[in-house]
Amino acid sequence: MRQRSFDLLKILREVEEGDFTFVEGDFPPVLSGARGLHVRDVDGNTYRDLSSFFGVCMLGHSPDFVKEEARRGFYHSMGDLLPSREKILLLERLSELLGGSWKGLLLSDGADAVEACLRTAFLFKEGKRVVAFEGAYHGTSLGALSATYSRRFRARVSSILPFESVFFPLEEGSLEGVEEEMKRGGVSAVIIEPVQGRAGIRPAPRRLLEGLRELTLKHRVPLIFDEIYTGFYKTGAVFAKDLFGVEPDLIALGKAMTTAFPLSACMGKTWIMEVWGKSSGEASYTFTFSGNPFFSRVALRALDEYERIKAGERALLIEGWIGEEVKGRVRGIRHRGLGVLHAFDFAVPGEGFRAFRWLLQRGWITVPSGLSGEVLEIVPPFIAEREVLAEFLADLAAYLRL
Ligand SMILES: Cc1ncc(COP(=O)(O)O)c(C=O)c1O
Repeated sequence: MRQRSFDLLKILREVEEGDFTFVEGDFPPVLSGARGLHVRDVDGNTYRDLSSFFGVCMLGHSPDFVKEEARRGFYHSMGDLLPSREKILLLERLSELLGGSWKGLLLSDGADAVEACLRTAFLFKEGKRVVAFEGAYHGTSLGALSATYSRRFRARVSSILPFESVFFPLEEGSLEGVEEEMKRGGVSAVIIEPVQGRAGIRPAPRRLLEGLRELTLKHRVPLIFDEIYTGFYKTGAVFAKDLFGVEPDLIALGKAMTTAFPLSACMGKTWIMEVWGKSSGEASYTFTFSGNPFFSRVALRALDEYERIKAGERALLIEGWIGEEVKGRVRGIRHRGLGVLHAFDFAVPGEGFRAFRWLLQRGWITVPSGLSGEVLEIVPPFIAEREVLAEFLADLAAYLRL
């Protein structure tokens, strides 16, 4: 019995809306600290984290550069009114990383970045519909949710979603239907994750991405890549767009950008960002924390660190290790992996969540995912070593033998 967790969860039940955290007795353990790969709970148990907490903490927990930046102070400014130096430098750095001729807008959560990309597309192309893909996850705020596939997320708010999405299967064969949809008119954007994350690491076929690029150019519809999950070296390339060799018009970034703080970006090619026009004194789309100087400074340090450790090469190394270990040890489950993104597909609804709970008891942090909870995912940080991955896979194999 995790008594301290149990006591805190009792309070949580009283103070948090009931549909947010799943609570059952002393589950889940309440966390109290983390460093590197190691996480502690309030009852003194320790875990090794192979989730990077939703693919965010890609340099391990509590890296020293965050502490250094925290000591320097200057935590907040007035985003659009009095910009900070670090916000400007981060936008410049992101533009360079994307290949030049990109402009953007800094926001907080991933859903904010997706919505800013969608808003840019709607400003550019009049219409009320978006082409999206089965399995897509773009966030749960109303605009992002409109392009998110899962019925579970949409169920109780479907009547108030701001626009309609037409969902196609994530396969090359969808191109014909997508073109028909565009010919009907009123399509303002195509949005796609180059590799679906929450649906259980499902890469889009290269031909689908290439075909979407051709169609969107032909019909002058903006193409948005949601790289909130895949961005910043996770697939081995800086962005998945580079891996597939397909350039979108707009890209949503978040998660690993700071390795810890809510900072996201909507980046667009210079020509499409012109639709926002020129400020006449007050921004028409703005948020209190847009371009927060502390988060921006941490992001700049994280981007330096990714370069220093050659994060892309580390991702490919990890992909190779996991592939070899899975071949040697893990039977009876389908494995999909790309860079540090890995899914174990049980093909049984809810089994990902059961495996997650069992592995948590053994001291591993993973993420249940898939449209019906049938998948277990890991997103190890770039600092993970082969031994720890092998140990984890031995435990996963033990679970499969139960
Ligand atoms: C591909 C993708 N888009 C958007 C989001 C939403 O990001 P956030 O939860 O920060 O709003 C996520 C989150 O998991 C994601 O994986």
